[in-house]
Amino acid sequence: MSVHSQGQRVTVPQLRAYKGERKIVSLTAYIAPIARLLDHAVDMILVGDSTAMVGYALPDTLSITSDTLAAHAAAVVRATTHACVMVDMPFGSYQQSPQQAFSCAAQMMAASGVSGVKLEGGQVMADTTQFLVERGIPVLAHVGLMPQYVNTMGGFKAQGMNDAAAQRIIADARAQAQAGAFAIVLEGVAEALAREITQTLDIPTIGIGASPACDGQILVTEDILGLSGDRIPKFARCFADAGQVIRGAAEQYAKEVREGVFPTLDNCFGVKR
Ligand code: KIV
Repeated sequence: MSVHSQGQRVTVPQLRAYKGERKIVSLTAYIAPIARLLDHAVDMILVGDSTAMVGYALPDTLSITSDTLAAHAAAVVRATTHACVMVDMPFGSYQQSPQQAFSCAAQMMAASGVSGVKLEGGQVMADTTQFLVERGIPVLAHVGLMPQYVNTMGGFKAQGMNDAAAQRIIADARAQAQAGAFAIVLEGVAEALAREITQTLDIPTIGIGASPACDGQILVTEDILGLSGDRIPKFARCFADAGQVIRGAAEQYAKEVREGVFPTLDNCFGVKR
């Protein structure tokens, strides 16, 4: 049964106002068939740059382009009517200057119809967030484990595990909230840190590998569907094994084609019966 009644798409101000009222439920989607299935159940769909790794089998998120992400985002927007759709700004499309970020974000929004953008970075990206927000582009911030920093981090590692690192992440989150981000993704951070940030910020925190105390949660959809290979990340859970269903369907199709059971004349055109 649908969690939401049919109606208008969730807006950014609504998501912002959910803080303290209800949990924000979010998943990623990159293609129309998946987005269509998630739409009624979630508040927000993120067309994440994780597309690079999940959808294109790349080793990291660094090489996906804004054109590719905008094309995926446009498909997700076309396939949905309820969830607020956000798109990631890809690596290299916003770090140079606020102006560069604005022109890329505006192009991606115009090309796809998303309601806003997500960008990685704390204090160092605060001016950029402010620049975008003041010019009409909602920003979802992202701190903690930031996959676009994989080379400086030396891998995908949980963050904020000692006091100094935790203080830096708190300062990052505060800076983004002050700059006008409407919500902030906390990825791969110590649980107590995520809890503290959630308690001190007046914007919603959306956790992934963070804390149940966050104002919302986000996961990569393929991780909850058993479509990410053999290993489910510690911070995720397989809620349904779609991998097994798809594998079984492919095997059954192959068997029936090989045995001449599919197609039948019912599947053909111009057959007189
Ligand atoms: O790219 C992505 O999918 C993300 C989420 C996992 C937060 O950044």
